[in-house]
Amino acid sequence: TYVVTENCIRCKFMDCVEVCPVDCFYEGENMLVIHPDECIDCGVCEPECPAEAILPDTEEAAEKFLELNREYSEVWPNITQKGEPPADSEEWDGKPNKYPEEFS
Ligand code: SF4
Ligand code: F3S
Repeated sequence: TYVVTENCIRCKFMDCVEVCPVDCFYEGENMLVIHPDECIDCGVCEPECPAEAILPDTEEAAEKFLELNREYSEVWPNITQKGEPPADSEEWDGKPNKYPEEFS
């Protein structure tokens, strides 16, 4: 599966949802997550993310976010169309330690 990781927080560009063939993204206030059981591992979302926040679960940086993606994809609503990203999206790109302070 692919995993949405820390840099999505407060960037939330949402380009990813437009390309997913199985619509397996779920939307929280400040980030999106992928449902690990619905993702078919096609990989097309990974290069679409301007924040490079989407990684395969084989990457070390994805490991700690896998369970978070699983947990929140069960409770957050499904998202299939790109909405308006936060006005300060770009400013959050690359900021360290966004989780957990800025997560919700
Ligand atoms: Fe969707 Fe493919 Fe990305 Fe999985 S890897 S979330 S199926 S676009
Ligand atoms: Fe987040 Fe990147 Fe999608 S910032 S909302 S994973 S395009």
